[in-house]
Amino acid sequence: MRYGISRRKRSSVRWFLILCAAFTFISWLLLNLRSVDAPHLTTTADGAMLDLPAQLALRELRDAFFSSSAQPPTKSPAKNCATVEEMGKVFEGKILKETRRVRSIIQRHFSINGAPRIRELPPEQFCKHGFVIGKASEAGFGNEMYKILTAAALSIMLGKYPFGDYILYSNLTFTLREVKHLWRQHGCVENYGRHLVMRIDDFEKPAKTNALCGNWRTWPQPIIWYQGTTDAVGAQFFLKNIHPDMRDAATELFGRPESLQWRPNVFGELMSILISPSRDVEEAVNWVLGGGREPDITLHMRMLMNRSIRAAQAALYCLKQATSNLQLGSRPRVVVVSDTPSFVKSIVPNISGFSEVLIFDYELFGGNVSYNTDASKNLDFRVKDWGPAPRWVAFVDFFLASRAKHAVISGAHKRVGTTYAQLIAALAAANSLGENSTSSSFSFLSSFQSNLLAEGLNLQVGWGH
Ligand SMILES: *[C@@H]1O[C@H](CO)[C@@H](O)[C@H](O)[C@H]1NC(C)=O
Ligand SMILES: *[C@@H]1O[C@H](CO)[C@@H](O)[C@H](O)[C@H]1NC(C)=O
Ligand SMILES: *[C@@H]1O[C@H](CO)[C@@H](O)[C@H](O)[C@H]1NC(C)=O
Ligand SMILES: *[C@@H]1O[C@H](CO)[C@@H](O)[C@H](O)[C@H]1NC(C)=O
Ligand SMILES: *[C@@H]1O[C@H](CO)[C@@H](O)[C@H](O)[C@H]1NC(C)=O
Repeated sequence: MRYGISRRKRSSVRWFLILCAAFTFISWLLLNLRSVDAPHLTTTADGAMLDLPAQLALRELRDAFFSSSAQPPTKSPAKNCATVEEMGKVFEGKILKETRRVRSIIQRHFSINGAPRIRELPPEQFCKHGFVIGKASEAGFGNEMYKILTAAALSIMLGKYPFGDYILYSNLTFTLREVKHLWRQHGCVENYGRHLVMRIDDFEKPAKTNALCGNWRTWPQPIIWYQGTTDAVGAQFFLKNIHPDMRDAATELFGRPESLQWRPNVFGELMSILISPSRDVEEAVNWVLGGGREPDITLHMRMLMNRSIRAAQAALYCLKQATSNLQLGSRPRVVVVSDTPSFVKSIVPNISGFSEVLIFDYELFGGNVSYNTDASKNLDFRVKDWGPAPRWVAFVDFFLASRAKHAVISGAHKRVGTTYAQLIAALAAANSLGENSTSSSFSFLSSFQSNLLAEGLNLQVGWGH
C-alpha cells in the first residue's frame, strides 16, 4: 500500500479514513480478519490456525472484489482498497435463510436436550446423558462468553455461570452443581456404574487438542470440557475434523466452510436464546433509552486509554457512511460505548452534529446495580484492558449496545474486532431478525485507521482483542 505524499491533503482523508470492512457475519469475522491481514503477520505462533477455511474465504473475497473491479464500466483506476459495499458483497446471499435454519436447529436441540426435559428423565436415561461445560473464570466478558457459547455450540449445556449478578441464563442450561446433585440422586454410579468423570480437551495447546482428529461423538465420558476457547474459532475447528460425522455436525451448525454465502449467525442465535440482562442491568439500559425508540447504530471503540485522533476520524467516517448507506433519515440514534471514558467525551460533540447520541454515564445513574460493587476483588490489573469503570458498567453497555437495529461499528486504536464488539454485533443481529421478517440488513463494520492498513495487525495480541 503506497501513500502519495504529494496528494497529501485530499487523499489523506481517503487513506486516513480508510477501509470500512463490512462483515455482515460475525462468526466469520475473525477468520476473515486473519486471512485478510495474514500477509502482514510475521509471527508463526498461530500457524496452526492458518490452514482453516479462512484461506478459501480469502480467495472468495478476493475473487468477488477483483471481479467486481475487473470489468468496471467506467475507466476508474485500479484500487487498492475495497469499499464497504464491495467487502460485504461476498457475504450477501443466504444468510437470512441460513440463520433461520440454525435458529430452528438450536430451538429443537434445546427442546430435546434442555435442562427442563433432561431433569425429568428416568434415572436410566439420565445417567446415559452427556454434558458439555463452559467453565468460567475472571477473564474479560467477551472471552468468557465465547467459552460458554462454544460449549453451547458443541452440545449445549453449561457449567458454573459467570457474571451471574448481571446476566440471566435461560432455564435451558444446567449448573455443574445440579448435574452432580442429580447424578447422586439417580445413583448413576451405584446402579449404572457411570462415574461423573470429565474429559478435558485443551484448545490452547494445538499439539494436544483433539478438535481436528477426535471423534467426540463417541467419547464415553459424561462431561466434556473444551477448554480455553475464548473466541469464535474454537467451535469452528470441527469443520475441519477428519471424522465425517463430526464435520457434518459442525457444517450443519456453521455452514459450509468453502462458501461464505452460507454463514449463519450461530453465536448471535445462541446468545439470544441463552442470555438476557438481569433486572438491574435492564433498568439501567432503559434509563439510557429514556422511553425513546430503539437505537439505530452502535459504535464501540476499544481505545486502551489512548485517544488516537486517527481512530476517531476513521470511526466518524465509518459512522457517517453507515448512516447514509442505511438511509436512516434525520438524526439516527447512535449508542457509543468505549473502554476509555475520556475518549467518549471527546468524540460525542462530533457525532451529535448528525445524530442523537446515547451513552451510559454510570456516575449519573442511581439505580440498583450501582450499589453492586466488586470492591472485594482487586481487578486493577485489568484496568488497562477493561477500562476504569466498575465492571458492571460493561454489562449495561453490552446490553444497551446490542439493542442497535441496523449496524454495529467496531473501532479501535491498535486492534480491531474485539470479542466484546463481535458479541454485541452478533446479539444485535439476532435481535433484529424478527420472527417473520423477509429481509435483514444488519451490518457489522470495522473501521481501520491508516496505521492498521499500513502495518497490519502486528500489534494485535491474541485473536480478537
Ligand atoms: C425459568 O422458568 C420459569 C418457570 O417456567 C420462569 O418463570 C422463568 O422466567 C424462567 N427463567 C428464565 C431465565 O428463563
Ligand atoms: C496513543 O497511540 C499513539 C499511536 O500508537 C501513540 O503515539 C501515543 O503515544 C499513544 N498515547 C497514549 C496516551 O498512550
Ligand atoms: C471534532 O470536532 C472538532 C471541532 O470541530 C474538531 O476540531 C475535531 O478535529 C473533530 N474530531 C474528529 C475526530 O474529527
Ligand atoms: C431495586 O431495589 C429495590 C429494593 O430492593 C426493589 O424494591 C426494586 O424493585 C429494585 N428495582 C429493580 C428495577 O430491580
Ligand atoms: C409469524 O407468522 C406466523 C404464521 O404466519 C404467525 O402465527 C406469527 O404470529 C407471526 N409472528 C409474528 C411475530 O408476527
